[in-house]
Amino acid sequence: MTTSLNRYAVFGQPIKHSKSPRIHQLFAEQTGQDLQYTAQEVSAEQFTVTAEAFFAQGGKGLNCTVPLKELAWAWATHKTERAELAKAVNTLALQADGSVLGDNTDGCGLVRDLLVNHGIALTEKRILLLGAGGASRGILLPILEQSPACVVIANRTVNKAVQLAAEFVHKGCVSGCGFADLIDYAPFDVILNATSASLSGQLPPLPEDLLAKQGVCYDLAYGNEPTAFVRWGLEQGAIKSLDGLGMLVEQAAEAFFIWRGVRPETQPVIDLLNAERTSL
Ligand code: ATR
Repeated sequence: MTTSLNRYAVFGQPIKHSKSPRIHQLFAEQTGQDLQYTAQEVSAEQFTVTAEAFFAQGGKGLNCTVPLKELAWAWATHKTERAELAKAVNTLALQADGSVLGDNTDGCGLVRDLLVNHGIALTEKRILLLGAGGASRGILLPILEQSPACVVIANRTVNKAVQLAAEFVHKGCVSGCGFADLIDYAPFDVILNATSASLSGQLPPLPEDLLAKQGVCYDLAYGNEPTAFVRWGLEQGAIKSLDGLGMLVEQAAEAFFIWRGVRPETQPVIDLLNAERTSL
């Protein structure tokens, strides 16, 4: 069954607590766009069949979240450069010729949150990226495009950090190491946490004195309470220690722009979501 309704969805597992339907509904109201955006629980095994059916039935675009970003990357026939290098796709967009483009808006969402919402430029800065998994890979190209002085990737499994750095070295100054080696590279102006440690309330084993004076900490994860890494940043004297709520809204805005050609205002949506979590 095809329909003229502009249908969008987020696929993932688990998906019940996803804020994406809310965010896109707010964007649609704000910009006067007529669309429907739903959340659908889709396992890795179901992904290909469900995505194909979604587009065959007239769906216009998808967001993909855990654990589907790598599968969406493999499924998309053509991809943007940032998605290609990320080896992960969070946005699928139906094209005029009927094909589906894969993109990754996570990194530019992070950069926009830092730069536009918080006035934190990455250009010429010394940046520490914690973690060498999918989340780090997904944001590296947009970070390097800001021309930082250097990006040091630190990871528990050192080899993964070294390998990830090697894949991006043609895009800028980037190297990989273990947490214990970090003291040789300090201080850092910006420390980004892209490990999944936050999700279980843990912290990577970080040496003291990593953060420069006037330094900034940013956790890609977010929650109703400050994450362990956000608290660590404050203890280290960060002038700002932020979580990833702004990045979530910004990556959604970029997807909305790709689909609808209209860029929504993000600050009112960020303010609303922030107010809701502090009132819990
Ligand atoms: P994601 O897609 O969220 O990046 P992932 O690809 O599984 O998930 O990567 C998780 C990252 O968090 C990895 O860099 C992992 O380190 P390892 O490569 O050594 O496994 C890191 N990580 C997870 N828990 C951690 C912890 N408690 N301390 C430090 N690093 C941790």
